[in-house]
Amino acid sequence: MIQPTMTLRGIDIFQGLLDAQEQRALVDELRDVIRAAPLFHPVTARGKAMSVRMTSAGRLGWVSDRNGYRYQERHPDGMAWPEIPSSVIGLWQRLVSETRLPDCCLINFYGEGARMGLHQDRDEVDFTWPVLSLSLGDEGLFRVGGADRSDETSSVWLKSGDVLRMGGPARLAFHGVDRIRFGSSRLLPRGGRINLTMRVVG
Ligand code: SIN
Ligand code: FE2
Repeated sequence: MIQPTMTLRGIDIFQGLLDAQEQRALVDELRDVIRAAPLFHPVTARGKAMSVRMTSAGRLGWVSDRNGYRYQERHPDGMAWPEIPSSVIGLWQRLVSETRLPDCCLINFYGEGARMGLHQDRDEVDFTWPVLSLSLGDEGLFRVGGADRSDETSSVWLKSGDVLRMGGPARLAFHGVDRIRFGSSRLLPRGGRINLTMRVVG
């Protein structure tokens, strides 16, 4: 079993798990996913646009609009979500489970100035499986706390190729991305950060 390079408030972090060639190959696969299921700007139930753009791959995708947020079987434009790239499934099998595969791979794109407020991933039915998260492109300042919003938090800069596993008591930890260092990586020619999160929805 592969060991994390660090843990932060119960979250396992595997720094540099994907090498540069694996990262480039995955970006190519993600271009196909995004061509089939374009990135969109989610809006919160209160009508506020989120600063990240997102799409999904897998049986289910996560969406948010004026009706609230939920998992659904189709992209807001009506098409089914593309398949999760096989290298992403392989990563999940290495770090989570050989047999129970993720239902959803959420793809977040952070352009210049994008961030993600502190939240819990709790729209899934089943919390027994970890959430696996992979960072690509520009560095992002990831913040994690505990199961209560008021719990103390710690931060780490996530770099391209870093993988993070939120399981056990950390499955419901509050987390978010305070900011990115736009242009800090050359993986994406026009800059930005991609984060993939794989989830069992249940
Ligand atoms: C998320 O919580 O959905 C994204 C986390 C990240 O971008 O690292
Ligand atoms: Fe999250």
